[in-house]
Amino acid sequence: MTNEQERNTILVLGGTGKTGRRVVERLRGRGVTVRVGSRSAEQPFDWTDRTTWAPVLRDVGAVYVSFYPDLAVPGAPETVGAFADLAADSGVARLVLLSGRGEEEAQAAEKLIQSAGVEWTILRSSWFSQNFSEDYLREPVVGGEVFLPVGTVPEPFVDADDIAEVAVAALTEDGHAGQLYELTGPRLLTFADAIGEIAGAAGRRIDFVPVSVEEYTGALTVEGVPGEVVELLTYLFTTVLDGRNARVADGVQRALGRAPRDFADFAKDTAATGVWDRA
Ligand SMILES: NC(=O)c1ccc[n+]([C@@H]2O[C@H](COP(=O)([O-])OP(=O)(O)OC[C@H]3O[C@@H](n4cnc5c(N)ncnc54)[C@H](OP(=O)(O)O)[C@@H]3O)[C@@H](O)[C@H]2O)c1
Repeated sequence: MTNEQERNTILVLGGTGKTGRRVVERLRGRGVTVRVGSRSAEQPFDWTDRTTWAPVLRDVGAVYVSFYPDLAVPGAPETVGAFADLAADSGVARLVLLSGRGEEEAQAAEKLIQSAGVEWTILRSSWFSQNFSEDYLREPVVGGEVFLPVGTVPEPFVDADDIAEVAVAALTEDGHAGQLYELTGPRLLTFADAIGEIAGAAGRRIDFVPVSVEEYTGALTVEGVPGEVVELLTYLFTTVLDGRNARVADGVQRALGRAPRDFADFAKDTAATGVWDRA
């Protein structure tokens, strides 16, 4: 039989990723027993292999659900919903979902988490600042030229550290169940603004070059980027960036009682680590 102590384990899906690893660090810092859920974890977890799901849920009381590759891809809601149902059946009491703003599939996944029959918190997040330092935008930033099919629609980039702090609060504290937090930074920036702030902080020239969707998808295809990734990026840079999310929200303030971290602080601290230095 599972005792109270054992049910205190928190499962962090995507626990080696941009948000997940920050959630893991913070939970461990609080002395919480954490299980990382990813393909490379001690007990491997794979979204595409349902036989790996039940073993990672053993003795778990709460789960941070970060889906891979993206909640916006077709089929994501069904997969996340099936996982949520299994988690509820396994005795999990609380689910915290990392979601995206203005994405039909992500909002469908939120509904399935909300109807799984356990406590839930939704972290509906804007674009992560860390896409520029820990993901596909890092390479062009280091190269000094960032080509993107985006114009002047601004985005309130959110810091992954803020997302992780809200996630930890929702996983470990009372008062967040049933809350949908829209997590954004405190300021709207165009991609040109964001690149300009990174260049200023890194002390070097980095050009932002707006291109057409056709030029962008053509270049990615030539580089050998898989078709489904090209499709996802195009969706994120066009449909989701059509102005629907061009407003700041108060999720960080509501969840943590403080203002979100500004992009300028992200740029300054990240530049100091050297990740944007020329190779
Ligand atoms: N980036 C944004 O701006 C943004 C904005 C809003 C919402 N989101 C949402 O954020 C989520 C991604 O979170 P993130 O950016 O924190 O993660 P991430 O940095 O993309 O990291 C991916 C994580 O998932 C694991 N993973 C990869 N393939 C997997 C698979 N087949 N099965 C299980 N785990 C797998 C990886 O570990 P292994 O390699 O060891 O498996 C890693 O821990 C997406 O659902 C997206 O919709 C992103």
